Amino acid sequence: MNNMQTLLQELPSDLDQDLLPRHVAVIMDGNGRWAKRRGLPRIMGHRQGVDVLKNLLRCCRDWGIKALTAYAFSTENWGRPLEEVDFLMTLFERVLVRELQEMMEENVRIQFVGNLSSLPSSLQSQIYRSMTLTKDNQGIQFTVATNYGGRQEILQACRALATQVQQGQIQPDQIDEALFSRHLYTANVCDPDLLIRTSGEMRLSNFLLWQMAYAELYITDVYWPDFNRQQFHKALSAYQQRERRFGKI
Ligand code: IPE
Ligand code: IPE
Ligand code: MG
Repeated sequence: MNNMQTLLQELPSDLDQDLLPRHVAVIMDGNGRWAKRRGLPRIMGHRQGVDVLKNLLRCCRDWGIKALTAYAFSTENWGRPLEEVDFLMTLFERVLVRELQEMMEENVRIQFVGNLSSLPSSLQSQIYRSMTLTKDNQGIQFTVATNYGGRQEILQACRALATQVQQGQIQPDQIDEALFSRHLYTANVCDPDLLIRTSGEMRLSNFLLWQMAYAELYITDVYWPDFNRQQFHKALSAYQQRERRFGKI
């Protein structure tokens, strides 16, 4: 490794280590527009986006951020042309196979959240394999939201709790925020402190609706395939300028 790379891996000196978000969530948007602007098919944007996510994961790890969650495929994305959906499913599977060894070496703990049971079965196998293999890793918690929808997640938690009430295991008034959170896919990770959305759209698109209650929102016009360390540095600088009041004064 040369000196340049070593230098780049340090936290930029203008950022305060103690004020970093513990958990960063990203809506990786703008792959299609990035490709279109270059006269390329949309799928080229998705392919490029994989490297960007890989770099961001490494950057979070280098800079001491404990958790990263990325929105890879929403429950609404099934509405896209079949060939794009197929390409994405194949891409997820291929990347997972390719990157697993490196994630092990880098101590990454990967998990997938969403309605995984309706994904292609070969993708499901790789998902379970990667989650099982990395489950004891103590490094960064990397969560990939795949066939994920915030409303769907909340509904499945409601159904699970309703069943427990029906079976007499809990009383309705025992359902509080903590118990509810433990029935979400993200039970093992704290709520995101910072949400980054690329490509300029000012919406949540059904991402982590419950968990995002007090996240700081950072929206950049940069398309996802162009999002790099410098862009992430800017997002963290902006985050560190925010005054998080949580309703107090
Ligand atoms: C985000 O980029 C990737 C996925 C939703 C899978 P898009 O594919 O939404 O790109 P745009 O928004 O059409 O440019
Ligand atoms: C959100 O992006 C989903 C992912 C990034 C996986 P979309 O491109 O699907 O969102 P909308 O359609 O602009 O709301
Ligand atoms: Mg989009």
